[in-house]
Amino acid sequence: MAVHRHTSRRRRPTIAAPLHRFADLWRKGGGVEDYALSELRDGHRRSLRRMGSEFEITERTICLDVLPDAFNGFRIVQLTDVHYGVFLPEDMLRQAVQMVNELEPDLVALTGDFVTYSRAYIEPVAEILAGIESRHGAYAVLGNHDFRVGAEQVAGALEERGIEVLRNRHTKLRRRGQILYLAGIDDWNYRPDLGKALRGIPRNASTILLSHNPSIIRAAARANVPLVLSGHTHGGQVNIPLLGNIWGRSPEQLQYKVGWARLGQTQIYVSRGIGTIVVPVRFRCPAEIANLTLERAS
Ligand SMILES: [Fe+2]
Repeated sequence: MAVHRHTSRRRRPTIAAPLHRFADLWRKGGGVEDYALSELRDGHRRSLRRMGSEFEITERTICLDVLPDAFNGFRIVQLTDVHYGVFLPEDMLRQAVQMVNELEPDLVALTGDFVTYSRAYIEPVAEILAGIESRHGAYAVLGNHDFRVGAEQVAGALEERGIEVLRNRHTKLRRRGQILYLAGIDDWNYRPDLGKALRGIPRNASTILLSHNPSIIRAAARANVPLVLSGHTHGGQVNIPLLGNIWGRSPEQLQYKVGWARLGQTQIYVSRGIGTIVVPVRFRCPAEIANLTLERAS
């Protein structure tokens, strides 16, 4: 009796296989972060997401030479570099929004990188951020990742939910008949136009500039902008003892990249942000929600 053997041909894994899997995810609207975590088991994913990702609230008073009376004590909560997706999933973002709301901000500044590589997260991130409560609303600028994924889509999704996106323009915040100017520019690598954003603002007016990338600091100082709020650097994200982070470790190397600094009359605050890129890990560089109080310098 003849025995028929059914042999199924097994495809041998090739070097190109991971690339094909990534390309497949990309086509479905996924991104690098989905690919990286899809390689791990559930338990590992959960622990990676949690590594160093607890949110820290930074309390900081910013003293400004020019500040209308009505804005003395005005509180801006800054949330930046959300990078919504597998690295920073829904429960964590909802927790961050709740923490922002508990701070009862006068204004919320969202300084870019809402997503990382995947357009699938644009609508969901906007939906969750729509839960932000603030007396004067929430304002946003776009980061480099938002441009890579789709600037129009990100801006559209935020605007639809009442979050105003400042793309090379400014707006006036009014309190008791007094004005604070809030300007915002597109990302440093995607044709920011500071001149256009500031056009019409009286010189020496009280102005705050939102810029995803802190590299704008020199141009902002030349334009006499009193305060810039930025993100982008993630504070280095990983800070190894003795070695420091990717930006360096000396105060000079870290100037304008992490925390508060001043150049001439211009002050800048660079938040570490809440999200992560490349690896879903922070080390000695906690995720940050910045609670900034404006005060007139005496
Ligand atoms: Fe970022």
